[in-house]
Amino acid sequence: MSDLNKIALKIISNGKGILAADESNGTMTKRLKAVDVVSTPENRLMFREILFSSESMKEYIGGVILYDETINQTTSFGKSIPSLISSTGAIPGIKVDIGAKDLANSSEEKITEGLDGLRERLKRYYELGARFTKWRGVFIINKKYPSTLAINSNAHALARYSALVQECKMVPIVEPEVLMDGDHSADICLRKTSDVIKKCFDELILNKVDLSGIILKPNMILAGKNSKVKISNEEVAQKTLQCIRNSVPREVPGIAFLSGGQSEIEATENLNLINKNNNTEFIMTYSYGRALQQSALKIWSKNTKDVKTTQNIFNHRAKMCTLAAQGKWSYELENK
Ligand code: 13P
Repeated sequence: MSDLNKIALKIISNGKGILAADESNGTMTKRLKAVDVVSTPENRLMFREILFSSESMKEYIGGVILYDETINQTTSFGKSIPSLISSTGAIPGIKVDIGAKDLANSSEEKITEGLDGLRERLKRYYELGARFTKWRGVFIINKKYPSTLAINSNAHALARYSALVQECKMVPIVEPEVLMDGDHSADICLRKTSDVIKKCFDELILNKVDLSGIILKPNMILAGKNSKVKISNEEVAQKTLQCIRNSVPREVPGIAFLSGGQSEIEATENLNLINKNNNTEFIMTYSYGRALQQSALKIWSKNTKDVKTTQNIFNHRAKMCTLAAQGKWSYELENK
C-alpha cells in the first residue's frame, strides 16, 4: 500500500467524510451576508474555529479542506488552524485552484486556473501541514454543453494538478462538478457526468497519476434544478452508482460526493441510499460544504458567542452524514 493510498483511506474509511470549508473569501462573504454577518477575516475564522473544535471532528470528520486565508490563521488560543485540525485526528487539506474563469472561445463555460507556480505553492502548503488538496473543474449542462473543449481542457488541468500534488506527497481530490442548474433530465446528467469523469481518468492515466492515491469528488446524478421530471431518491442512488461503476477505474480507493446545492437532508438521504445499494468496491462518502454547514451557520449568526449550540448542530449533521456513509441513516435518527 502506497503512502498516498494510506492517507486517502485514512480520510474516508469507517464512514468518515470530508468537511469542505474551503469557500473563497468571495463565496464566504456571500454565505455570511445571507445570514447578516459581516465578512471579516476575524468572523470567518471565528465560525470555522468553532466547527474545527467540535466533538464530531474526532469521530466523523476524516479531513478538512481549507482556503488559503484559513490555513495561515491562528486560533483564539494560539494554535495554528492545521494543528488544531490534526489534534482531532482529522487531516488538513487545502484548495489549490485559483478559481474558474471564462473559457476562451466558449465564454459560457469555465476553465479552472492555478497551474502556474503550483509546485512552489504546494511545497509551502505541505510545510504548513496539508496532506491533501482540492481542485474543482466546473461544467454546465444544456443543449450545447459541456463542450468537448471544456471537457478536455478541464480534464487536462485536473490531471496536471494531480501529478504535481502527488509529486509533493499529498493526495489530490479530483473534483469535476457538473452543475445541477438547468432543466435537463437525470438521464442527461448521467450521460454528461459519465463523459466528464471518463475523460478525467484518460488524462490522469496519461499523466501517470497513481490512481490508488486520489479521491474522486463528483456530483450525484440528479435531474436539473428546473426540470419538470423529478426522480426519486432511490433513482438518484441507482443512477449515481451506475455512473461510478461505468466510469471510475477500480484502483481508486473512494468517492467523496459534493452536495452541490442539495438540502442537508436530501444530500444525507441520497448518500445513505447510495451506500445501502453500493454494488461497487468503492468507499462512498461525503465531502460536503453547504450540506454540513448550512444549519450551523444559521444558528451561529443569531448569536456568534453561542459556541455550544452551533457545535451541537454541526455535530448532529456530521453524525448523520457519517451514518449515511455507512448506509445506517434514517429519518428516526435524524429527528431524535
Ligand atoms: P458543496 O457540498 O456545498 O457543493 O461544496 C463542496 C465543494 O467543495 C464544492 O467545491
